[in-house]
Amino acid sequence: MASATDTRYGHKDATDQNFDYMFKLLIIGNSSVGKTSFLFRYADDTFTPAFVSTVGIDFKVKTVYRNDKRVKLQIWDTAGQERYRTITTAYYRGAMGFIMMYDITNEESFTSVQDWATQIKTYSWDNAQVILVGNKCDMDDERVISPDRGKHLADQLGFEFFEASAKDNIHVRQVFERLVDIICEKMSESIDSDHPMASGGKHLRFMDTSPPLQQNCAC
Ligand code: GTP
Ligand code: MG
Repeated sequence: MASATDTRYGHKDATDQNFDYMFKLLIIGNSSVGKTSFLFRYADDTFTPAFVSTVGIDFKVKTVYRNDKRVKLQIWDTAGQERYRTITTAYYRGAMGFIMMYDITNEESFTSVQDWATQIKTYSWDNAQVILVGNKCDMDDERVISPDRGKHLADQLGFEFFEASAKDNIHVRQVFERLVDIICEKMSESIDSDHPMASGGKHLRFMDTSPPLQQNCAC
């Protein structure tokens, strides 16, 4: 597991204070749906066909410009394997946005979306924004979930929906940018309320309520 100060995970950027907003985002979904690949494609524009299942949780930092604002994204990549669930759900607190991912070639990963939605309800705050992503849309020959089923489920859950491919770089950037935009929209809606989302002006930052990454983790 990488430590939060590991240079591979954006140390330079992580110490950069020059931003207007900081959003904490989480990527969740079953093991092997492509969460890590999606993040690597977005942050580093790389893809590897090898599967190295994530142990616990990792993050990367990326800054985007949206609506004349510098938005620093702290993107947490969670392990899909059940045995890490206690660790990963501890990071839901304070997350403003979720990318909930399934694999269009894997029925079980789609069935699990309902359970992931319950996890969000249980462990995160009510205003967190969610985008449902059907990943691996490059594998149309092996597709078992139609785009319509994905869209229908997203509508039922009140989420936005994209099909994407980390491999072929389809809709990866768009998913993150849309998530940033809907968080910004929600923020301006609640700006007059006493909701924590409205608790700052220009330099709104969210308290990092995540447990610290374990240093020298032996797992
Ligand atoms: P856990 O860390 O165990 O939760 O899995 P994960 O969701 O992070 O999956 P990961 O990104 O490691 O990808 C699993 C496998 O799917 C790897 O072999 C990837 O190369 C492959 N993969 C990921 N995204 C795509 C995609 O868009 N298209 C194709 N064809 N393969 C993909
Ligand atoms: Mg992973």
